[in-house]
Amino acid sequence: MEKNPIIAGNWKMYKTIKETKDFLEKLSSSLNNQRANVYIAPSFISLFFAKEIAKDTKIKIGSQNMHYESEGAFTGEISPGMLKEIDMDFVILGHSERRNVFKEDNSLINKKVLSSLENNIQPILCIGETEKERDSNSTNEVLEDQLTKNLLNVSKTQMKNVIIAYEPVWAIGTGKTATPDIAENAHLYIRKVITKLYDKDIANSTYILYGGSVKPDNIEILLGQHNIDGALIGGASLKIDTFLEIINKS
Ligand code: PGA
Repeated sequence: MEKNPIIAGNWKMYKTIKETKDFLEKLSSSLNNQRANVYIAPSFISLFFAKEIAKDTKIKIGSQNMHYESEGAFTGEISPGMLKEIDMDFVILGHSERRNVFKEDNSLINKKVLSSLENNIQPILCIGETEKERDSNSTNEVLEDQLTKNLLNVSKTQMKNVIIAYEPVWAIGTGKTATPDIAENAHLYIRKVITKLYDKDIANSTYILYGGSVKPDNIEILLGQHNIDGALIGGASLKIDTFLEIINKS
């Protein structure tokens, strides 16, 4: 890792508005000159309040999903304009739970990536293989397919604003972290695909985060890998002490 790392918390369907406020107040008062860029993705209902607290801090606030259309008859959905109105910094797209539980496919995720970029909301695009795909040696093929389809029509200029998160599905919420070697190889391959789709400079400057059972005791070795530029963290981002420990070790 050569860049200042991004440490992003994906809170999934956890934390009420009150819990979000309490956490962010503690977090903002504990941050001083840490190297890490801190990103937090609370639930939709807490975003406005989270942004209010984070406004004068270096914490970036974003959502865990969004619709690609600017408005319309899409019951239960949130538009990019609604997120922009409350100054959202980023949006997580293509998380494996969205892909697997809510059946989002590559073409839908591509529409969302394009829409987030058009609306100046930085996308964190998640990609990763399932256990079955890893066991059948198709990890690289899956990563290349997801990147190619999810980044379709994303221009070189727009690509400079995209963050990639490599999240092997078998490592999410399971306690099974990819070994530093497995993660590094996947990140290296992702950089190769970005070089093929764009160019070497863009590939080198793109942030590629690792996600899947990141904790205080594995963050240093993961960030020690040349191609790992940060982490997207679920479970371990929910407790202030644990999350701060990760930030302080980054
Ligand atoms: P985990 O989740 O850290 O709980 O494995 C990561 C994620 O889903 O982004």
